[in-house]
Amino acid sequence: MRFTDGFLEELRAKNDIETVVSSYVQLKPSGRLLSGLCPFHGEKTPSFYVYPETQSYYCFGCGAGGDVITFVRTAENLSYVDAVRLLANRAGLAMPEDQADDGTANLRKRCYSANREAAKFFHQMLQSDVGKSGFQYFHSRGVTPATIRHFGLGFAPDDWNCLTKHLRSLGFRDDELVQFNLSRKSKNGRVYDAFRNRVMFPIIDLQGNVVAFGGRVLDDSKPKYLNTSDTVVYKKSRGVFALNFAKNNSTKELILCEGYMDVIALHQAGFTNAVAGLGTALTEEQALLLSRYASQINICYDADEAGRKAAEKAVRIFSRTNVKIKVLRLTGGKDPDEIIKNSGVEKMRSILSGAMNDTEFRLSQAKEHLDLQVADDRLSYANEAVKILATLSNPIERDLYASKIANESGVSKSAVLSQIDRARHYQQKKQDQTRFALIEKQMNAFSKNDFYPPGTPIRVRNAEEHLLASLYRNPDFLTSSCKELSANDFSSQTNRTIFQRLTKIIEQGKNPSIHAFNDCLTPDEMGHLSKILTLSEKLGNNQKECQDCVAAIQEAKKAVAPQAIGKLSDDDFLKLFTKK
Ligand code: UTP
Ligand code: MN
Repeated sequence: MRFTDGFLEELRAKNDIETVVSSYVQLKPSGRLLSGLCPFHGEKTPSFYVYPETQSYYCFGCGAGGDVITFVRTAENLSYVDAVRLLANRAGLAMPEDQADDGTANLRKRCYSANREAAKFFHQMLQSDVGKSGFQYFHSRGVTPATIRHFGLGFAPDDWNCLTKHLRSLGFRDDELVQFNLSRKSKNGRVYDAFRNRVMFPIIDLQGNVVAFGGRVLDDSKPKYLNTSDTVVYKKSRGVFALNFAKNNSTKELILCEGYMDVIALHQAGFTNAVAGLGTALTEEQALLLSRYASQINICYDADEAGRKAAEKAVRIFSRTNVKIKVLRLTGGKDPDEIIKNSGVEKMRSILSGAMNDTEFRLSQAKEHLDLQVADDRLSYANEAVKILATLSNPIERDLYASKIANESGVSKSAVLSQIDRARHYQQKKQDQTRFALIEKQMNAFSKNDFYPPGTPIRVRNAEEHLLASLYRNPDFLTSSCKELSANDFSSQTNRTIFQRLTKIIEQGKNPSIHAFNDCLTPDEMGHLSKILTLSEKLGNNQKECQDCVAAIQEAKKAVAPQAIGKLSDDDFLKLFTKK
């Protein structure tokens, strides 16, 4: 084990699973357990459970599970050691550094440190003579020196390798810099700076590490923005600009915009809850991340066709989470940066307060290119509107909007309502179909994550899992009921590992705890173990039950696996044959 038991015990005591998980998931009491929406897959009804008693969690929807360390590993995409480090920091515990190192933890540390040095370098350049053009650029866009400092903005000089040289002088190797996307390597082996003659926006994660950069040209050349692609510490599809600042906002509301400059202009104007996705359309991962920090998201995309399309897509993605969505209609400029500059902060505030909810937004989209003076257009509008209203689950809301549509289109309200009913019926049927498809997919996903050799009978799986759960709960059954059992009797490697570790813990006279499995199981396998622990609710906790499981396991072991038959001697084969 990499860390001492004492250290891990203290770490756990100071990082109660309920408290840690609560900062990611809204938990509600559910009997002796707590339940909430799983942070690891999109869902609308809770299948994620926290078990305070065993300090573990398990999601019945996607099979994720484990202890507080597994949780942080999965939620923050960290290695075991980095997850321990995060929890240690959180609890104000000193990390026993000498104990802690695996290859990737070290690599990630190097990457964080190279990025931090690069950000410092770019920031210094912006304040120096070399960076005058960059400073002038920010000034021309109304960015104040205080904002430059707050966001740590910088400038990458018009030079082929000043950053590379600087980082080399600090001890970084060329191959590292290329791997961290700070430098590039030409065909003839020369290493040069990835960002040149651009103003620089550092992207900072929720722990305060610089993980990536965006760099903008000072003129109209292309590409306008360059962004760091994925590295050991950064995944673009999860990246959100300025969430490190915005998450501290007290309102539980976020403003989601398109660009770096929009976020900066909004923060400077006092809207410190603004964030932006980074150079991609909103991803499901970003939506899940944002939904952990807000109960309402105000979408503030550009007032052009692309922005409207992107907002429509974002509304769809967020509808799979349970945050409230509002879409802002921008006027007086194409994006928030321009609006604040052209029309002032008050204008922006009024836009924010007049935000449409997503139904209003979709309805306004539906009549965008229509002329409601024309009968044909009124009819198309009514038809489109019916499809939108059919997706509302609240009948009062449906009724309310039906009146509005009837007024606008001149179709009678009762006709609108009956069309909505028909459309709902049809949508329900389609939904049922997709639900079945989803269940099928989930079943396939589980078999991918199956911890048993193909063909292992359910009876055997159950026996193994119940036995492990029973021993976990009743350590004394090990000596009383399992004398004849060896790890090799288990059909799956994962169960073998669990049994071996469990035996070791019990023989040392300790009480089993899920934490003791972290270093011998992968996060996926921790999920399997958590599932096993959920079985303890159904156990009789008696020796008979335990002995029955042992018997079933040994029985299965005796039956020779079909693929082994070919290897039997003629005599043995005959014996087996006559027995059957
Ligand atoms: P926009 O083209 O709307 O730019 O791209 P902007 O944010 O308004 O920037 P300014 O005001 O012209 O400086 C919106 C966002 O899309 C990403 C960037 O994150 C940008 O902020 N983007 C855009 C890229 O990643 N690469 C590009 O070449 C362009
Ligand atoms: Mn802009």
